[in-house]
Amino acid sequence: MSTAPSSTPAKLSRRISIAPMMDLTDRHCRYFHRLLTRHSLLYTEMVTTGALLNGDIDRHLSYNDEEHPIALQLGGSEPSDLAKCAQIGAEYKYDEINLNCGCPSDRVQRGAFGACLMKEPKLVAESVAAMKAAVDIPVTVKCRIGVDEQDDYQSLAYFVEQLVDAKVDALVVHARKAWLQGLSPKQNREIPPLDHERVYQLKRDFPNLEIILNGGVENLAQSEVHLAQLDGVMIGRSAYYNPWILADVDLRFYNDARIPTSEFEVLEKMLPYIEKQLSGGIKLAAISRHLLGLFSGQPGARGFRRSISENAHLAGAGTEVIENALSHIREPHQKLNIESAVA
Ligand SMILES: Cc1cc2nc3c(=O)[nH]c(=O)nc-3n(C[C@H](O)[C@H](O)[C@H](O)COP(=O)(O)O)c2cc1C
Repeated sequence: MSTAPSSTPAKLSRRISIAPMMDLTDRHCRYFHRLLTRHSLLYTEMVTTGALLNGDIDRHLSYNDEEHPIALQLGGSEPSDLAKCAQIGAEYKYDEINLNCGCPSDRVQRGAFGACLMKEPKLVAESVAAMKAAVDIPVTVKCRIGVDEQDDYQSLAYFVEQLVDAKVDALVVHARKAWLQGLSPKQNREIPPLDHERVYQLKRDFPNLEIILNGGVENLAQSEVHLAQLDGVMIGRSAYYNPWILADVDLRFYNDARIPTSEFEVLEKMLPYIEKQLSGGIKLAAISRHLLGLFSGQPGARGFRRSISENAHLAGAGTEVIENALSHIREPHQKLNIESAVA
């Protein structure tokens, strides 16, 4: 674990969370997101029980203290393995353990976990119960609204009922079904239609269960609409590709001050972190790739992205790559200021 000084972490709240995303929400990404919002709950990428029980645990689980509150997402389907991994996660001081019941990739299906677990509610309930018996931290599940032909509301409600009986602490529902054959994971995040109403219905039928909606939430205004009916909203791609939306989360949803006053301030805070990681042998590109969307939609954003993408992977690349890329943003901004001053 990092030796960085720990600040007082925010309390775990699932009002706003940032979705687990393989190859995206690694610890560098999460450190960056934490500079934008103190309170949102951050999720790791999915880590399989096989990877943890047979692999390098520290490589999979280490993170920076600043990332709290942070949830570890597990992929697996063997209750005793999941319980062991949950325990390891708790020893690493994760704030929550989440079980993936929504991922449709072939690799995951071969291991018989992820979205295909929605066809095995009893096994999922047994897994949740085993994890809860092993740890004191919350155990949650992330699922879809259906899978393959099993896409009627009754089946979903039955699945949820089993989880409630197993005392699951919260349920995150990606509001579209998954097709296990014929669609790629990417298509499975785009083609099956979103059905937010079905998640609202779940909340009406299970009012005591904490339910978090996921899928297709693009901004905080939409989050607010969902929060009128539900306990939380999980944002995935919009948070990753347009991270600046996170800067308003603390003020808008947690009644706390905003942390960053500008994108520049966030980058300034990233630089010492990047320096430290570089000195530990991490390549700049492994961190800078998460910053590419910071100015999304603003003048110069494309130049900023291109400049980093072209230079970050070069031998010896350091923080000057970020500083140079900023020239694409600063100049148009300065021009804008001058124009408005003249007007
Ligand atoms: C690149 C990528 C990787 C993902 N990996 C995971 C994962 O490891 N575990 C998981 O539960 N969901 C994963 N997801 C799904 C997201 O967590 C989320 O459910 C989905 O993107 C819908 O939310 P959104 O519309 O806000 O992006 C992934 C999504 C993307 C785009």
